[in-house]
Amino acid sequence: MAVTEEEVDFFIQTISQHSSYDFGDYSIKSFTRRVDKLLMDNRMDIHQFVAKLSADSKFLEKVVKDITVNTTELFRDPAIWQAILRDVIPRYKDQQKIDIWHAGCSTGQEIFSMMIAMHTKSLFEKSNFYATDLNTDVIEVAKSGKYKYREIDEYINNFNTAFKETDLPEMKDYIEISRGKSLIKIKPFLTQKATYQQHDLVTLQPPFGKQFDIIFCRNVLIYFNHDLQNRIFEMFYDTLVPGGTMIIGRHEGILGDIVNKFEKRGTIYIKK
Ligand SMILES: C[S@@+](CC[C@H](N)C(=O)[O-])C[C@H]1O[C@@H](n2cnc3c(N)ncnc32)[C@H](O)[C@@H]1O
Repeated sequence: MAVTEEEVDFFIQTISQHSSYDFGDYSIKSFTRRVDKLLMDNRMDIHQFVAKLSADSKFLEKVVKDITVNTTELFRDPAIWQAILRDVIPRYKDQQKIDIWHAGCSTGQEIFSMMIAMHTKSLFEKSNFYATDLNTDVIEVAKSGKYKYREIDEYINNFNTAFKETDLPEMKDYIEISRGKSLIKIKPFLTQKATYQQHDLVTLQPPFGKQFDIIFCRNVLIYFNHDLQNRIFEMFYDTLVPGGTMIIGRHEGILGDIVNKFEKRGTIYIKK
């Protein structure tokens, strides 16, 4: 039986009483589905579950990781990468350095997509890539740059579509594909380039103490309610340099007045 809204509230309150995590402004619908799944996976009812959360901090940390949705791909939504290659990256060609933040980076495929895109435009060396996520397990995967071989067909398709409008780079210059080991491995010159930090967007405190030229936050805000989304958009606005670029997910948009402070080009927003 599905958990009720009151039970989900009880769960959220227990987490916030016993940790720094606050899921109070996550979108209730998708969050309820995640709680239902956790109860099934752990074969517990909500009362047993909440009791264990209160008593066992390791269990709580694991639950926080399990509650996040970490789905991602290399060059996910390739039409957006076509726009990034065509309209965003060329704007930075004369800049001395380019600071890029991937908020909610998950296992890193989005960071490596941007690194490859910047490399093809000869802007890789002067770019700095910063990446954050709430979930430290996915950050460790991102650092390793190792992915399951079964994703390869999707990655090749995305790669070919993303670069459709430009000269197609050689994927093997960036990625080692080891059929025998069932592994895809991002080359070290890419994996060594990013700086990672655990960071919770809910705190509204920007990480790394700096401003960014480009902020990616794709397929993360969709899990938050509109109030929290708007507060995070304000934080991104303040954290971008004038004329900076914010890129959000294909199914995401700005509903608050903050939209007027950006020039909107699809899911790419330029700070006015
Ligand atoms: C679906 S993935 C998106 C990955 C990538 N940006 C993409 O579009 O392919 C969402 C990520 O947001 C992270 N996340 C969820 N809540 C967060 C929060 N409060 N602060 C930071 N990251 C969060 C999750 O851990 C997860 O890795």
